[in-house]
Amino acid sequence: MDKIERIVEPIKTPDDNRIENSLRPQRLDDFIGQEKLKNNLKVFIEAAKNRQEALDHCLFYAPPGLGKTTLSHIIAKEMGGNLRVTSGPVLERIGDLAAILTNLSEGDIFFIDEIHRINHFVEESLYPVMEDFELDIIIGQGPSAKTVKLPVPHFTLIGATTRAGLLSSPLRDRFGIIEHLDFYRIKDLTHIVERSASILNIAIDDTASKEIASRSRGTPRIVNRLLKRVRDFAEVKGGKVTLDIAKEALNALEVDSSGLDKMDRLILNVLIKKFGGGPVGIDTIAVAISEEPDTITDLYEPYLIQSGFIARTPRGRVVTELGYKHLGIELPKNFLKELF
Ligand SMILES: Nc1ncnc2c1ncn2[C@@H]1O[C@H](COP(=O)(O)OP(=O)(O)O)[C@@H](O)[C@H]1O
Ligand SMILES: [Mg+2]
Repeated sequence: MDKIERIVEPIKTPDDNRIENSLRPQRLDDFIGQEKLKNNLKVFIEAAKNRQEALDHCLFYAPPGLGKTTLSHIIAKEMGGNLRVTSGPVLERIGDLAAILTNLSEGDIFFIDEIHRINHFVEESLYPVMEDFELDIIIGQGPSAKTVKLPVPHFTLIGATTRAGLLSSPLRDRFGIIEHLDFYRIKDLTHIVERSASILNIAIDDTASKEIASRSRGTPRIVNRLLKRVRDFAEVKGGKVTLDIAKEALNALEVDSSGLDKMDRLILNVLIKKFGGGPVGIDTIAVAISEEPDTITDLYEPYLIQSGFIARTPRGRVVTELGYKHLGIELPKNFLKELF
């Protein structure tokens, strides 16, 4: 099957780059929603600043597009340190890590995106760095090899991951601050639409903001992308984004009232029509829709579960009553409510 291009793709596309930087909140107070996380961070940041110490290492885990990268930028700003950005797969050798660490200053922020994809050797060499701010480097080979301890400035490591479960526990345990970001509430997403519209100079009705928010799968990146596309429709139709224009645009983009797109509906349909609604294992679903199992686990499943259309059971994924209703398909007679 050809790749379906998804307007609701939560992973960043090159097109997102142009607007994301202008829309990225710069300070913690501009970061909308996630109140509990924000309040915690405020306290930790203030305490670290009062002690004139680097902030504890932070681990953020959440599905794509919820604000992990944004938070690392914000923390660097709030703490007044420089930000160094890299990602797990890029750190191939200990030398790559050493090159970055030796260029850090006290209080800098070192952001490792997709930290669950870091290789084993680099991960192990991070342990003494995170704990004692010392990098062990082996010089020479064979019997004459020796370990040299290289001091590293006190910095803050921020790790981001979509898959906390794939992180080894020794690595996880070395983060002082571990926070999960939840999908955003419609109220917060509406607020994000309003903020972005005002930055981009888009005139929009309140009801239209809410409509875009409720079809954005709880994800700020998608909210901003849908807003941009709805604006295109509005411009052709004469200006302001009204509720009617928002609905028309979103329908044309095939994003339904719950934010599901063709691919999500395909998954639900396949589960119901080929597998009697489940339970089905992820690998079987993956084969049936020609996708990678990881793609399903990372990109499709979290939102389908969060919005209550499918559920995870010990024997596999099952379509819920809500899932059947959403597609307008009648519940099978043997539908087992007790599965849930
Ligand atoms: N809490 C928030 N408030 C306002 N905008 C947000 C928020 N979180 C994310 N965004 C917007 O969504 C975009 C994607 O966020 P990002 O931090 O890149 O996600 P992640 O790194 O988790 O994939 C950002 O460019 C920003 O504009
Ligand atoms: Mg990111």
